[in-house]
Amino acid sequence: MDGASATQQETYDYDVVRKFTIAAVIYGLVGFLIGDLLAWQLTYPDLNFSSPYLSFGRIRPLHTSAVIFAFGGSVMFATSYYVVQRTCKARLFSDALSKFTFWGWNLVVVAVVVTYPLGLTQAKEYAEPIWPIDVLVTLVWVAYFINFVGTLAKRKEPHIYVANWFYLAFIITVAMLHIVNNLQIPVNWTDSYSVFSGVQDAMIQWWYAHNAVGFFLTAGFLGLMYYFVPKQAERPVYSYRLSIVHFWAIIFLYIWAGPHHLHYTALPDWASTLGATFSIMLLLPSWGGMINGIMTLSGAWHKLRTDPILRFLVISLSFYGMSTFEGPMMSIKSVNALSHYTDWTVGHVHSGALGWVAMVSFGAIYHLVPRLWNTSIHSVGLINLHFWLSTIGIVLYIAAMWISGIMQGLMWRAYDQYGNLTYSFAETVEAMHPYYFVRSVGGVLFILGSLVMIYNLTKTIRKGHPV
Ligand code: HEM
Ligand code: HEM
Repeated sequence: MDGASATQQETYDYDVVRKFTIAAVIYGLVGFLIGDLLAWQLTYPDLNFSSPYLSFGRIRPLHTSAVIFAFGGSVMFATSYYVVQRTCKARLFSDALSKFTFWGWNLVVVAVVVTYPLGLTQAKEYAEPIWPIDVLVTLVWVAYFINFVGTLAKRKEPHIYVANWFYLAFIITVAMLHIVNNLQIPVNWTDSYSVFSGVQDAMIQWWYAHNAVGFFLTAGFLGLMYYFVPKQAERPVYSYRLSIVHFWAIIFLYIWAGPHHLHYTALPDWASTLGATFSIMLLLPSWGGMINGIMTLSGAWHKLRTDPILRFLVISLSFYGMSTFEGPMMSIKSVNALSHYTDWTVGHVHSGALGWVAMVSFGAIYHLVPRLWNTSIHSVGLINLHFWLSTIGIVLYIAAMWISGIMQGLMWRAYDQYGNLTYSFAETVEAMHPYYFVRSVGGVLFILGSLVMIYNLTKTIRKGHPV
């Protein structure tokens, strides 16, 4: 792939990749800042400033949408557009569609930033946008699909590299999830009613949300991993066969696991057991991907000593392995009876979201920027500093949440010899306070790391010029 001639490189559309990369870095910082504000609000509730616009309830979905869709989405657009062009040796299918996806996606982000603080949402987790925004998302996504598949169709390489398989699965499945979960009957410009009701509505919502994790935060980022890890390590993928086997296993298993979010609810018991069973099976293909990524370094382990970009990529795989071990455990009903509603879930979320999604994205961004601006990175030392700040930040965050979550679960279920609850709810809240403080400090370190990255990338971009 590196052998692509200068003429071939000139025909690639790197402009849209550059735009999405810059968007990803900016949205990332904004999303992390809002996340840390939430963390401080939970530590010191006065930080809600008695304002409805800044209240925890309204800005929490702003955080989740900013990090998953604005930051994660921009990383996906940037890397998939880059990877599909390079591995197919073909320019993106349509310049117009590339521009449309960029401006359309940004319009979605602006619309979300305006509507959520005003309290305009449809109250479905990770699917909060009101119906006109949902329609815009659908249009952008269809354009993305056509652009991606069109590029695959005009490829000059006979083979479709495995990264593109993962990206394609992510694009198709997210389209399906988004459309089904947002089947609504609008009653005016801001309100609508879901066509599903009761427990069916809950099941569709968690089928959507779990697969948003499975396909947005996992399959798409595995696609990214399958390109950037081998490139950065300068080694071929450890096992191509394993990549295909775990691809199909992930696609087949993820889609059934949603009911593990609804244990001990009105959902029929068999459905909840089915969800747990598929979740446990998911451990295998998830670890297949993790092992394949890490083993790609065989023969190149020494590079970890000198290459902090590779370190970002490898630690992200370790966190991926950890969170996909933890997830199946938490789906077991007796474990979930302890973990559900507690901070353990939040710890699990962020070991996947910060440890895997954000860290693998940082690795890819550091790999991309010098190549897109035809220069070398401003400072390798600063990448190293970013690596340690974010790693320590994540460890503080998730360790605090594990302790606080398990403690919370145990305190809620503690009884004395007369059968009365040992602790009042207020006592459990008080006990969590120190851990909330530690989590907030972890967030500050993570944000400091991102600021170091922004400084380093700005300097890099200034000394380069667009390819
Ligand atoms: C500086 C970095 C971050 C900090 C300090 C932070 C903090 C927080 C806080 C305080 C919450 C609310 C927890 C609660 O309601 O008890 C939260 C929720 C959440 N965050 Fe973050 N976050 C950060 C980065 C991220 C990233 C990068 C992602 C995804 C890629 C992410 C995804 C989520 C999700 C999905 C939830 C909802 C969790 C749930 O409902 O269980 N966060 N975050
Ligand atoms: C084999 C893989 C995985 C399985 C089986 C799994 C399983 C679970 C389970 C059982 C829960 C708790 C549900 C509850 O009690 O409400 C959960 C929550 C969650 N997981 Fe995972 N997990 C996996 C991997 C991941 C990864 C890699 C990420 C992030 C990149 C992630 C993100 C989340 C989020 C965001 C939630 C919170 C949803 C919410 O309540 O808002 N999971 N997961």
